[in-house]
Amino acid sequence: MTKNDVIDLIKDAGYCTLATIEGDQPKVRPMMPYLTEEGDLLVATFKGKRILEQVQANPKIEACYIDRKMNFCRVSGIAQISDDESKKEMIFNNAPMLRQYFSSPQDENLVLLVIETKTVEAMTPQDRNPTVLSLK
Ligand SMILES: Cc1cc2nc3c(=O)[nH]c(=O)nc-3n(C[C@H](O)[C@H](O)[C@H](O)COP(=O)(O)O)c2cc1C
Repeated sequence: MTKNDVIDLIKDAGYCTLATIEGDQPKVRPMMPYLTEEGDLLVATFKGKRILEQVQANPKIEACYIDRKMNFCRVSGIAQISDDESKKEMIFNNAPMLRQYFSSPQDENLVLLVIETKTVEAMTPQDRNPTVLSLK
């Protein structure tokens, strides 16, 4: 799979399972990150969510996306809580469903996670081994 195939996969899938680490225990949950032009993932979440404590203790994450054709990719990255107003605007404007949960990008309950992506491993059902690439 090429980088563009992976970008299409991420956009087509819409949501991923996002893994964090709590102590020595992986924790996964569905999340709907927004993929930026720079190849990073933005996640809007709520103040007080466990994911926030987990990434503060250990910022390593992995996101797994699967599309309807059973192509999948896993994206590793480093997550940081961010107050970047322009990135809050970016995710708010590109993910209309967030309006159900937050009144505006400045809503005090909205916490932004910026995930700097590292390595992507992508596979189609025909592949025996993953293609390794970067979204940067
Ligand atoms: C398809 C789907 C997408 C979701 N996307 C988000 C999201 O982008 N942000 C969020 O805070 N919660 C999202 N959720 C809800 C979280 O998965 C849920 O609140 C989960 O408990 C959070 O995990 P945590 O408690 O370990 O932080 C989504 C749920 C589903 C089913």
